[in-house]
Amino acid sequence: MGREVAAALARWPALDDHPVRPRLTAVCDANAGALAWFDRIDTVRLRTTDHRYLLADERIDVVYIAVPHHLHEELYLDAISAGKDFLGEKPFGIDLHAGERIVRSLRNTPEVFARCSSEMPYFPGAQLAIETVRSGHIGKILEVRASFLHSSDLDVTKPINWKRVARFCGRLGVMGDLGIHVLHVPLRLGWVPSRVYAVLQDVVTQRPGPHGRPVPCDTIDNATVICSVGQGRDLFPLTIETKRIAPGETNTWLLRVVGMEGGAEFSTQSPKTVRRFSVRDGRQVWERLETGSQSVFPTVTGGIFEFGFSDAVLQMWAVFLAERAGALGDRFGCVTPDEALAAHHVFDAALRSAKSGCAEPVEVW
Ligand SMILES: NC(=O)c1ccc[n+]([C@@H]2O[C@H](COP(=O)([O-])OP(=O)(O)OC[C@H]3O[C@@H](n4cnc5c(N)ncnc54)[C@H](O)[C@@H]3O)[C@@H](O)[C@H]2O)c1
Repeated sequence: MGREVAAALARWPALDDHPVRPRLTAVCDANAGALAWFDRIDTVRLRTTDHRYLLADERIDVVYIAVPHHLHEELYLDAISAGKDFLGEKPFGIDLHAGERIVRSLRNTPEVFARCSSEMPYFPGAQLAIETVRSGHIGKILEVRASFLHSSDLDVTKPINWKRVARFCGRLGVMGDLGIHVLHVPLRLGWVPSRVYAVLQDVVTQRPGPHGRPVPCDTIDNATVICSVGQGRDLFPLTIETKRIAPGETNTWLLRVVGMEGGAEFSTQSPKTVRRFSVRDGRQVWERLETGSQSVFPTVTGGIFEFGFSDAVLQMWAVFLAERAGALGDRFGCVTPDEALAAHHVFDAALRSAKSGCAEPVEVW
């Protein structure tokens, strides 16, 4: 992900009239071999294998921290101690307790600006779906589904990596990898789960290790979590799905909101279109809207062209740096530390639910 962000920053001139002009000046990776890739970025003047060395550099304002989950707490706390603003990766701590310690430290250090990475809501179709919900045209909400679906783990010969080992990825497994991606929009729209029922599947329990021999693969592959949102007559189900084994889905992020008067559905399977529901002249209509390339911050790209993953990363960074500069306005912001912690509370309740076999309350955060 460090390379992905370096490439996004190199494409910064594609943004029209953004208030900030970032420059990538320093890179850290514990694996010295990984640093060589950054030779192609000519603004980089510092390469190090020790993050403390980078954090001690007073000429660095902002840090992007993308490391395996067991290292989030240590590196985020070090960044906070060094007074560096940062965009941290999800799940923002390997578990609820790590997330709590990170967020507590941020609350005690209000001068540090921090957000958590989640780029998929910056697809223009996702923005249009969010706008449709915010416009009030949906009416009373009946149900919401938010999913992030992968399928490369269908291949049982795929070698093990740190994301498939609980010690490094966390007991959350796939929820830690993909959960904040699906909860970003619901939480921002005020849909805070109060109770969850989870079905968590550890489907593939062994994978080829470094020498080809099978080693344990002990993380949750697929998580289906049904959440209660709202109360009384406003109660509705929010189904969140995070899956590593969803046959046919390669990186499908989906949001579907259906209400009594309208609905909106966006999936990156059809990245150029949003489906919108309405009732017209007594008829039920699902219409298809073409979205084009423009997202939260305008770019030089022609409106008719396609938008993709790397555009979403660019938009997320444009949003993060604009908000840091106090210039975000009413645009859709990145995941806040409080939202990352709220997501941890949902995942924690999901783990409890899988153990008890019952719906479990989400602790107040
Ligand atoms: N936003 C997204 O779409 C997205 C996608 C993939 C991964 N991620 C997140 O990004 C983070 C990293 O995932 P990844 O896929 O890039 O992993 P990766 O394994 O590809 O890269 C992690 C890098 O961290 C380095 N590293 C390990 N320990 C380090 C240390 N102490 N100091 C400095 N560098 C160290 C490793 O050498 C490696 O190069 C995770 O939190 C993951 O959940 C986000």
